[in-house]
Amino acid sequence: MNADGRTRLNQTPEWTALAKHREELGEVRLRELFAADPGRGAAYTLRVGDLYVDYSKHLVTDDTLRLLRELAAATDVFGLRDAMFRGERINTTEDRAVLHTALRAPRDAVIEVDGENVVPGVHAVLDKMAAFADRVRSGEWTGHTGKRIRNIVNVGIGGSDLGPAMAYEVLRAFTDRSLTVRFVSNVDGADLHEAVRDLDPAETLFIVASKTFTTIETITNATSARSWLLKGLGGDEKAVAKHFVALSTNAEKVAGFGIDVDNMFEFWDWVGGRYSYDSAIGLSLMIAIGPDRFREMLDGFRIVDEHFRNAPAEANAPLLLGLLGIWYGNFHDAQSHAVLPYSHYLSKFTAYLQQLDMESNGKSVDRDGKPVEWQTGPVVWGTPGTNGQHAYYQLIHQGTKLIPADFIGFARPVAELSEPLKAQHDLLMANFFAQTQALAFGKTPEEVRAEGAPEELVPHKTFQGNHPTTTILAPELTPSVLGQLVALYEHKVFVQGAVWNIDSFDQWGVELGKVLAKRVEPALTEGAEVEGLDASTKALVATYRELRGR
Ligand code: F6P
Repeated sequence: MNADGRTRLNQTPEWTALAKHREELGEVRLRELFAADPGRGAAYTLRVGDLYVDYSKHLVTDDTLRLLRELAAATDVFGLRDAMFRGERINTTEDRAVLHTALRAPRDAVIEVDGENVVPGVHAVLDKMAAFADRVRSGEWTGHTGKRIRNIVNVGIGGSDLGPAMAYEVLRAFTDRSLTVRFVSNVDGADLHEAVRDLDPAETLFIVASKTFTTIETITNATSARSWLLKGLGGDEKAVAKHFVALSTNAEKVAGFGIDVDNMFEFWDWVGGRYSYDSAIGLSLMIAIGPDRFREMLDGFRIVDEHFRNAPAEANAPLLLGLLGIWYGNFHDAQSHAVLPYSHYLSKFTAYLQQLDMESNGKSVDRDGKPVEWQTGPVVWGTPGTNGQHAYYQLIHQGTKLIPADFIGFARPVAELSEPLKAQHDLLMANFFAQTQALAFGKTPEEVRAEGAPEELVPHKTFQGNHPTTTILAPELTPSVLGQLVALYEHKVFVQGAVWNIDSFDQWGVELGKVLAKRVEPALTEGAEVEGLDASTKALVATYRELRGR
């Protein structure tokens, strides 16, 4: 029993019904499902904004989908969704509201946290960001020596890096190409070194992005960036005001670091780090693409927010995608989920989703603190096609693991490409369609024999098929479509966390490593005796010091 009086997930009749259904369905074959229902390819689809979502190549029947929806109803996914949109404190372990949806709410919306409407504050920050972005883009904002800003370096990590870095890559064709935009996250000094080595400090603006403004990697890199800047500009401390701005919820720490709070762009504790790149954390992106494009992206997010909020269960895309993940993770023992975008511009998309999904749903106790007795979030991985096809697709096609995958593609190439390069798009997309077809339907031994393969090679050339995929097809990669895609995944992750009864919005699991790093550092630098070091770490530290010449 849960604290709220509900039956634990794996003891609900809906869960048991799904387990039974899984047994009855046995080794259901996609070939058979398609043969039995010629309309399946069109029927098992949804449209959300600009996204066409095909889920026909999944190991499901109408009964499976009905049973999954019943599980969602039994776990009150929509109840929790409504509580989230209302601004209730559904992040219980941190006692916080979860309101990234307010970041893209229209100006006249009213969303209250503790009796205060947060929407005017959201738009005030967006307006401040837009004014600043315009000043940088037009050259009106100059550096300490009067030179125009030509380089933007975002210093942040996790949600304060992955979102803007991903979106900048995705929307490169919409960026001001005269600006150099870079992202520094790793505390490895090599990251900052490579980011600034060819830049003129007089033309460089650092955006220090940190929700808490206490994250050691970011503060270390920002401090080094400050030294680099001051060294390059002759040491005048006044230079900092023209070359450093901050994105944070923590004005006190920002001031303590030496950044004028007038140059701070605020957000709030009800925005999780991994849900934050449409907040002030997106400033580097806004400078790169301009405020209008940024707002188009927010409109895209909003399309899917509205859909998630209003579409009935049968036609609700985030609900469906979340439930399909549960079907494989909990009833087929799938351990991972691949996201395979067929767009070079989406090269960082899966890395972004890794934090969104794995930091949210990588949990092993439920909301009441009891160990879960069911699998939670999958390992999320993947890189753009067609590159992956020549690397790890072999394992997806013929390995021993079940790997559900999302294929994301676009009908039109990015407008900026030259005509000959645009012509390559059909080849890219031919691969996109071919892969999901091969994964679903495979190649039987009979088909291999019919091609004249020698008998001993038949097993090697046979493809079992039955590998489930979702295909997401959009007309073109635009800011709005990016917003739609991100919101789709945000809400999918939400659905899964709701069903699993876990807190998808905390991240206590990253704390221990941080504490231990702090403790072990003096052992590396000063050779200090650190209490409680285990024998393995002790020996490793000693070897490190020896190799380091200490
Ligand atoms: O260590 C994990 C984490 O707390 C993430 O959740 C967050 O996105 C990242 O660190 C960066 O945190 P901050 O924006 O406070 O620097």
